[in-house]
Amino acid sequence: MFVPTFRPRRGSRAVAGAFVFLAAALSCALLAAADNPTPFTKESISRGKTVYLQNCQDCHGEDGRAQGSAIAVAPDLTRPEVWKYGQTDDNIFSDIRNGAGDNMPPFGPIGVGLKDAQIWDLVNFIRSIGPENQRPPLR
Ligand code: HEC
Repeated sequence: MFVPTFRPRRGSRAVAGAFVFLAAALSCALLAAADNPTPFTKESISRGKTVYLQNCQDCHGEDGRAQGSAIAVAPDLTRPEVWKYGQTDDNIFSDIRNGAGDNMPPFGPIGVGLKDAQIWDLVNFIRSIGPENQRPPLR
């Protein structure tokens, strides 16, 4: 005869919780790497750094930390946890290409005219100065 028992529930809930957590973590990791067509290589990072120093350091600082910027209160690009417009590669790409908020100018076709490939190099450079656990493996 079937006797319902409630005892195992707590355990199975914990297992289900862990599964949901893992699935969410995995999809975040996939999202972060999903659409960037430029491999995360030293060459790309170094091209990105050159474009960065030419276009971004006045506001975000030479090292991305935006300390002592005279022009605008720009966010620290080494700390994704303080960003407002998302943390995926796609989000960073779109912030740079189209601008973000009131004071981050667009650098794509309606702005300075950076090519998409240059913007993906910038995304890779920003990843390279960000938290190690959010960097894709170097290729
Ligand atoms: C004129 C100053 C200025 C320049 C130049 C500039 N930024 Fe910004 N940037 C800002 C400001 C200010 C914000 C925050 C906008 C807001 O929060 O409303 C910002 C936001 C961002 C964000 C989004 C962060 C978030 O909160 O999600 C990224 C990514 C970014 N900038 C990257 C760059 C890169 C890469 C360059 C060079 C191509 C660059 N910025 C050039 C001022 C600047």
